[in-house]
Amino acid sequence: MSAQKGTVYLVGAGPGDPDLLTLKAARLLATADVVLHDDLVPDAIVAMANPQALITSVGKRCGRPRITQAGIHELMIDSARRNLSVVRLKSGDPLVFGRAAEELNALTEADIPAEVVPGVSAVFAAGAALQLPLTDRRTASKLILIAGQHAADKSAPPPMWNGPLPEDATLAIYMPGRNLSALAEEMHKNGVAADMPCVAISCAATPRQRADAATLSHFSELQPGPAPLLVLIGRAMQPMLRTANDEAAHRAIAEVISTLSL
Ligand SMILES: C[S@@+](CC[C@H](N)C(=O)[O-])C[C@H]1O[C@@H](n2cnc3c(N)ncnc32)[C@H](O)[C@@H]1O
Repeated sequence: MSAQKGTVYLVGAGPGDPDLLTLKAARLLATADVVLHDDLVPDAIVAMANPQALITSVGKRCGRPRITQAGIHELMIDSARRNLSVVRLKSGDPLVFGRAAEELNALTEADIPAEVVPGVSAVFAAGAALQLPLTDRRTASKLILIAGQHAADKSAPPPMWNGPLPEDATLAIYMPGRNLSALAEEMHKNGVAADMPCVAISCAATPRQRADAATLSHFSELQPGPAPLLVLIGRAMQPMLRTANDEAAHRAIAEVISTLSL
């Protein structure tokens, strides 16, 4: 399908690997007149846009004054009113921590036709990349997605998680921040067990992917990779702990062997 004139498409770009784009996303991208993309969308995906398209990064970290959310609404609405087709390209899935509610409201109020095209959200990319099922009928029957940092009120952020974490849940924390100690402390205060497996995965499904794992009591000792970072907590993450322990054991054995051979 090609992008229709006067329509705005909220399109999921997935976690960063161009092969994880849906066919629909790729077709819309290749035919839209205007592309407005987030900064987490890599160049390789932006390069798949129609060569004649007007492409604008509306991301936050491009070293220039950040375009406001209202500014993004204006760009989408003005372009559609000029009878241009618009792809609003968002990382992951557009309906997961992507301000889609505000954008869809603005389009509805302006009477602009809109369509949402799902994408692979970070949590699914992370599970696939690590070969870690996010649910497991023996250990995890719930998958909970939460945001660690709240854009709404930075002065007095609400608690990330309030109350006990169900023992059979996998908790995925988007935008966890860099302070793993504070995160672990918050989980600990909420009664999460000290031996609960925790994973920090950075740049999932990209060549820079890196994952580290520890129990909650040792989570603060990890040095996580660069943003974007996702934290996964739950018993279903246990296999990552075994891998981390195996790697530590191999490193220790290698060190002993190297001293013996000196
Ligand atoms: C504004 S949210 C957007 C989430 C996106 N809509 C999704 O469905 O994945 C950005 C957060 O998503 C997570 N994220 C996005 N891409 C990621 C990736 N490739 N690896 C790890 N985390 C990622 C990080 O927690 C990042 O701070």
